[in-house]
Amino acid sequence: MKISPQAGKKFGVVVEGFNAETASAEDIAELKKAVYTNKIAVLKNQDLDPGQFLALGKRMGEVAEYYEPVYHHPEVKEVFVSSNVKEEDGSQMGVPKTGKFWHSDYQFMPRPFDLTLIYPQVVPSKNRGTFFINMADAYEKLSADLKQAVKDTTATHSVLRYFKIRPTDVYRPISEIIEEVNAKTPPVTDATVVKHPFTGEDILYLSEGFTLSVQDAAGNDRADLLKELLDASGQLDRTYEHDNIHLQTFEKGDMLVWDNRTLVHRALHTATPEPAVSFRVTVYDNDAAA
Ligand SMILES: [Fe+2]
Repeated sequence: MKISPQAGKKFGVVVEGFNAETASAEDIAELKKAVYTNKIAVLKNQDLDPGQFLALGKRMGEVAEYYEPVYHHPEVKEVFVSSNVKEEDGSQMGVPKTGKFWHSDYQFMPRPFDLTLIYPQVVPSKNRGTFFINMADAYEKLSADLKQAVKDTTATHSVLRYFKIRPTDVYRPISEIIEEVNAKTPPVTDATVVKHPFTGEDILYLSEGFTLSVQDAAGNDRADLLKELLDASGQLDRTYEHDNIHLQTFEKGDMLVWDNRTLVHRALHTATPEPAVSFRVTVYDNDAAA
């Protein structure tokens, strides 16, 4: 196994010679360390079926099954499917157009995933990739004034703004769906700056997609501060040219493994999308959760 920095990129490593079937415990530990340190690893030349992909996730920690079954792979439910391709019988596996907004996975839940593994299955020929921002780095780069302003504030996250209504929700009153979403996934509040459980870094823990509000210690809503923080991090830049934004491209056979607490990401979808399918496994790393 050879781990080297990604050429010409802001962060991330390329991992060659990693075999999920024969990797030793030391290999897995080294890989996880590389992910927490470098934030994203691209494993080259992977050839795994959904069951083998799940098995790799289980070696990295506790695999979480997504709370909404509509995303599940029909045979391996722990595999989350993002797909804009219809099956031969006209059915839809997984959900199309996922993640077209800045977020980290499960940021709206009490415990976010530590690691996200994405394994593209059908790779578009152009305009493929995912945008990432390192929010530990974004925190470091905040002005002294913003660092001071964010102290002692909390941020509230919810899935509501980007919850995808399901085919079975058609003709239901939207108020009923909103109530149901809030009952199933109540908004969660955490410090706006959280410590990484593995690296100790301070992370600006908020996203344009899931963060509803920021409050000061007295409980006053600070919509102005939320906007300033999102802006400073690069999440409001619709040109995607902000210095903090990293475009991660991939090719068939690549698997991306990233530090989900530190990175926010956003899928790159175009107005005229080509077929794209990707599988995802998400992991709680109980070694890292202090
Ligand atoms: Fe995501």
